[in-house]
Amino acid sequence: MSKPCGRFRVHQEFFRAAILSALLVAALAIPARSASKKIIFDTDPGTDDAMALMLALNSPELDIRAVTVVPGNVTAKQGLENALRMISLANRCDIPVAAGAQHPLFQKLITAEFWHGKNGLANIELPPSKCKVDTRYGPDLIIEMVHAAPHEITLVPVGPLTNIALAVEKDPSIVPLVKEVIIMGGSITGGNVNASAEANIYNDPEAAQIVFQAGWPLTMVGLDVGDKTLLSSKYVAQLGQTHGPMNDFIYQVAHYLVDLAAQFGFDGTPMYDPLAVGVAIDSTLVKAPPMHVDVETRGDFTRGETVANRHGMVERNVLHGDRYVIEGLDKVEPNAKVCVEVDADRFLQLFVSRIRGK
Ligand code: BDR
Ligand code: CA
Repeated sequence: MSKPCGRFRVHQEFFRAAILSALLVAALAIPARSASKKIIFDTDPGTDDAMALMLALNSPELDIRAVTVVPGNVTAKQGLENALRMISLANRCDIPVAAGAQHPLFQKLITAEFWHGKNGLANIELPPSKCKVDTRYGPDLIIEMVHAAPHEITLVPVGPLTNIALAVEKDPSIVPLVKEVIIMGGSITGGNVNASAEANIYNDPEAAQIVFQAGWPLTMVGLDVGDKTLLSSKYVAQLGQTHGPMNDFIYQVAHYLVDLAAQFGFDGTPMYDPLAVGVAIDSTLVKAPPMHVDVETRGDFTRGETVANRHGMVERNVLHGDRYVIEGLDKVEPNAKVCVEVDADRFLQLFVSRIRGK
């Protein structure tokens, strides 16, 4: 074969260099995507669920592998419709969206259109979904995905814990295979439903107790830290400066929520579910000491309360004749990291910049 002439050789080398750099760019891009945290987002959408989902979709640190729907803020049927419309709005039909439980484990569902609007999405009518529902049952999909990617999946439930509890009950072998569980729910300083209980836990206390006692690394992003992250009209105005389907939708949702909060005398809306996603993105946003948490399932006034032992000890009471005598202290092992402080400004800026696509 004759040697290529000078000009042809220059071309050949140019193309070789171009192909090599393209391969290099591709090689660098693959680890970046596979380095993202794989999450399953379990949700009862829900206005703040919508903001949380859009935050997750716009954050390169996270790779949403599935959205599973649980009844809570709205019925299971409405929640599924909302999830599909939002995933479609984001042009992400590649993400499976599956229905799960139809009601809490042992009690009647309590829906919250009062706070979230008639359709759960601030009465905003999103276009019908181009995406189709995944026909797998939510808890089964969770089980399947955890086994397919052992030690890689982080569960981010931001609604009642029914789906997660059903998955654990059906297949407890997923527990050691889940990387982490980051929950929006509970409170260690009083509730929003009543004096003691937060809504997600109150909506299915038995499910919550199963999830807290399962034995996996769990972070509780409760009501009390969420209340420190108020998205005020200053941030809403920033959201209004940029445009795009997701940006405009979240701007409208945030506007609705800030107006609603103002009616109750608050200067901003608490970012409960988005903060759980924020913690999945960057755990340094919060301070979360380990505690042992139990969910009260029986109290007349405290059903659904997350009862946290902050000292890691309980007294040991031993029966001596007709009375008990304290003989010492027994250690209780922590089962959760409980968020107690949050860098609210840093989180709110992160939220706004991600929604604006910056
Ligand atoms: C939680 O309850 C729901 O109304 C919100 O979406 C959030 O997950 C706050 O108590
Ligand atoms: Ca929610």
